[in-house]
Amino acid sequence: MCGIVGYVGRRNASDVLIDGLKRLEYRGYDSAGLALRTGDGLIILKEVGKVADLERMLEEISPCSTQGIGHTRWATHGGVTQVNAHPHRDGSGKFAIVHNGIVENYMELKEELEREGVEFLSETDTEVVVHLIATSFSQTGDILETLVNLQGRLRGSFALVVIQQDLPDRIYCVRKGSPLVLGSGDGESFCASDVPAFLPYTRKIQYLEEGDIAEISLGGIRVWDENGCPVEKTVFTVDWDVSMTEKSGFSHFMLKEIHEQGMVLRSTLKGRIADGRTAVDQELGWDAEMASKWDKVHLVACGTSYYSALVAERVLEKWTDLEIKVDVASEYRYRHIKCDPSTLAVFVSQSGETADTLAAQRKARADGAHCLAITNVRGSTLAREVHSVMLLKAGPEIGVAATKTFTGQMAALFLVALQLGRLRGTLPSDEEERLISELIHIPYKVELLLERENEVMELAKRYASKSNFLFIGRGISFPIALEGALKLKEISYIHAEAYAAGEMKHGPIALLEPDLPVLAVIPRDGLYEKTLSNIQEAKARNAPLIAVCTEGDTIIPQHVESVIEIPWTDEEFTPFLSVVPLQFLAFHIALLKGREIDQPRNLAKSVTVE
Ligand code: F6R
Repeated sequence: MCGIVGYVGRRNASDVLIDGLKRLEYRGYDSAGLALRTGDGLIILKEVGKVADLERMLEEISPCSTQGIGHTRWATHGGVTQVNAHPHRDGSGKFAIVHNGIVENYMELKEELEREGVEFLSETDTEVVVHLIATSFSQTGDILETLVNLQGRLRGSFALVVIQQDLPDRIYCVRKGSPLVLGSGDGESFCASDVPAFLPYTRKIQYLEEGDIAEISLGGIRVWDENGCPVEKTVFTVDWDVSMTEKSGFSHFMLKEIHEQGMVLRSTLKGRIADGRTAVDQELGWDAEMASKWDKVHLVACGTSYYSALVAERVLEKWTDLEIKVDVASEYRYRHIKCDPSTLAVFVSQSGETADTLAAQRKARADGAHCLAITNVRGSTLAREVHSVMLLKAGPEIGVAATKTFTGQMAALFLVALQLGRLRGTLPSDEEERLISELIHIPYKVELLLERENEVMELAKRYASKSNFLFIGRGISFPIALEGALKLKEISYIHAEAYAAGEMKHGPIALLEPDLPVLAVIPRDGLYEKTLSNIQEAKARNAPLIAVCTEGDTIIPQHVESVIEIPWTDEEFTPFLSVVPLQFLAFHIALLKGREIDQPRNLAKSVTVE
């Protein structure tokens, strides 16, 4: 977690850094700080709270600097205090650093440094690093050698940016386990945890590999590997533009991103379907012979991405003969699940930087599995480590609660499932054609639904005062119930649980009473009547009922208090539609409750620590 940014150029560094930090605030937002190099030494400013609070602090002193580093924090080691906020400096005040990640052996390093007489100001693991750098630099006088040595001392994950008062017009970066990208402009250079931080200035980027050290300067970028040997980097031009990182007239990023879902589906499907079949052979690099070697698929992810994997599980079971296993990455990585060269292991991660998902991928890869990443971020750690990648093409997602990337993940996973069905000969071509002809209509159906936001807004008013919710669904609608409950709890802080509808009578039914709304996801599918029975059970216990059902359903409205209709589609594709009203419901309830929707408490968008 945490967002870091660095700048060297001719612009006012504090403007570039504050702008960059605001664009990274989704990564952490309990405190923020920056260090600026000036003719009179380093100026370090830090503040508990949002980047806007730091900005107000800056206005009072208007420092003049063209070189600096900044940080927005999500606390791990040490409470949320000004002292613990980054940047951290060494005793002489000449070095300052910002850090994203965790230094696992910081306690032993701290004890060692204390024995040498170093005084610590904060409770953070990061402060150890700046003292190590300063001590080593005082001995070597060489910053590259210092940073090579540093890596040998640290255990854990880190993206570090280092500024030094006596090293004008350049700053240094080290990346191991935490994301860091570099941007090159005309006579200026940038580094940041994520591309949106410097998108207003450049779209030319370079990715760092594990252990890489970089110098970003007025003259450009130089990179060395962990041994200090120079490396040549490819410069990529990102196809994101700056408007994608702005709210574009919407009150919140989350609302904008919900409304982008039709577009996300279109761009994720674009170029990947031709003549009634999937056209992803080259992208995935699979052929029938390869696919015939797999007998099982492991789908691994966290949070919302995990729920997209649960949806995919259900279509993979239907369209292929493979044995499917789905798990959350934090469990998968420690279990003894049989994984070998006959396994296709699929890792789903919006950011491509989630620590548990990365660790799970490394384990599966070591076991010989063929690893596929479904991610939104080209160049992310996950995308670079796997054998095959399918990108979502959702554009940057800034709201902490995932919405459009969930939809994009499902689309990408459906393409993979269809492809596997064909390669293994388990999905007849006429069936594939029929499914694809419906899939390409889904973006339009999603857009029709988006126009009905007002209906959900009215519903939100009716239920916003409730303290608890129960979401239920069966089959492919069960993961959507899980996702609806997650959205509601994370942005409105209302307690919400989700159950497979058939499980209700095995426990949760005891909760039912007139103050517990039950939201049932019940499209017209093969399990419709079963879920209807569960609705009746809830009704008999006087629970207020809300149903997400298919347009034209005349039965459901007779049994429930409120109805949200979705357009008709094949059973398999209902998740693309049924999730939309649940996203709106969570959004409008959170809005009525005055929550910080784009940056909910305690959360960060990219969970780069275990
Ligand atoms: C919920 C949400 C999280 C993420 C989870 C995984 O709205 O955003 O649950 O889905 O942290 O993140 P990624 O997909 O980046 O691996």
